[in-house]
Amino acid sequence: MDQYLPRRERLLTSSRPLPDFDVVAADGPWLHCADGRRIFDGSSGLICVNVGQNSPKVFSRIEKQFAQYSFGGAAVVRPHAQMELRERLCHAVGRPEDYVALVTCGTLGVEVAVGLARSIARVRNGKLRGDILTSNLSYHGMSAFTLALAGNGARRPRPEDALGLGPAFPAPYPTAHDHAERACDASCADEVAKAIDSRGAENVAAILLEPVNGTTGGAFVPPDGYLRRVSEICRERDVLVIHDEVLTGLWRTGTPLAGNHWDGAEPDLCILSKGLGAGYTSVGAVLVSPEIAPLLRHENADPLPALGTMATQPLQAAICLGVLDELESMDMGAFQARGERLGARLQTLTDLSVVRDVRGLGHFYGVELAPGLLWPLMKEAEKNGAFFYPFTGAGHPRSEGLVVAPPLNSTDEDIDFLSTALCDAVTVLNRNG
Ligand SMILES: Cc1ncc(COP(=O)(O)O)c(C=O)c1O
Repeated sequence: MDQYLPRRERLLTSSRPLPDFDVVAADGPWLHCADGRRIFDGSSGLICVNVGQNSPKVFSRIEKQFAQYSFGGAAVVRPHAQMELRERLCHAVGRPEDYVALVTCGTLGVEVAVGLARSIARVRNGKLRGDILTSNLSYHGMSAFTLALAGNGARRPRPEDALGLGPAFPAPYPTAHDHAERACDASCADEVAKAIDSRGAENVAAILLEPVNGTTGGAFVPPDGYLRRVSEICRERDVLVIHDEVLTGLWRTGTPLAGNHWDGAEPDLCILSKGLGAGYTSVGAVLVSPEIAPLLRHENADPLPALGTMATQPLQAAICLGVLDELESMDMGAFQARGERLGARLQTLTDLSVVRDVRGLGHFYGVELAPGLLWPLMKEAEKNGAFFYPFTGAGHPRSEGLVVAPPLNSTDEDIDFLSTALCDAVTVLNRNG
């Protein structure tokens, strides 16, 4: 029979230089393997399983919607579940009056945000072109367009595949933006001004950035004042600001949106995805501020780009409502304190010579390692029963390390287990190295 089993390499998806886990069951943050091992998922899947697996709250929402109806096409069936989701979601992230476009993943969220921003910029400011400017250390999705736009050298290695686009300004992080004698600070936002002015503001619809860097660099946090300065620069030039919060949105960094960590950093458009479907469904949402969203219905506006077949799928919306039920049932004070404890524990790793840096916020950290140690550390951590997300990010040679991102509803014991598993693994590596 074995010859009929599908071969792993025939499935064209990512793999890693360590064996896959043969998972037969999961609950909360735990993966149960066929060989009897239990692994703590310290990366929340692909940084999306934010409320753990097997949530009864999500299940009860699915059951209820399934019993009613499972598909209702946009422009045909009144989108009850989606309207409830818009209401709940916008309140949850402190933008209650926003308009929302629902899509089926983060990449499409970015694509749709670009379309909406271009339409708004042309109606409002008569922009000649719809340029979208990104940073040299960014990831905004896996379509040909979003790969072309962003600065992720590992995912789009060939300059000739940039469709004439490509990143326009340096991200305010070491190796992405090197200075002779100082660290990055808020004044690095001047690079954004330069990038807009060199194109001509009349050609630029929006700046697109991750308010806290995701997996491309491994959880870099921008200098205080940087995002506010970017917003001011854009406002002075009638350029819109789009925050890609696909990874960071919905409390991953400790606040509803990562941009909430700084005053004056509210974007015009904001994209959510991973934490909204929380691994239960594929979904994305583009939030558009009420000051500009009505322009999308203007007689000169372009057709709405948010019209995919599965864009208003009721089961998908029901799942998202269940995820919000989970998130809103958390004790936020205890959750935030747990994130800080996790960060403080990981910071102690910087005393060891194999660790180059620890950075991040909330339940999202990057542990950057000396070159060559990523896979040995993953292996060592797995022996201790914990899994993390590998990153290979900025610089030449590329930096490497682990992203630590446990589910947001992890308990105190979970966080202790996870940080001990990682700290012990790093200590072993340090001793052997
Ligand atoms: C910041 C950011 N934007 C966009 C995406 C693309 O989302 P998806 O994989 O759901 O298409 C990702 C995915 O990792 C991301 O981290």
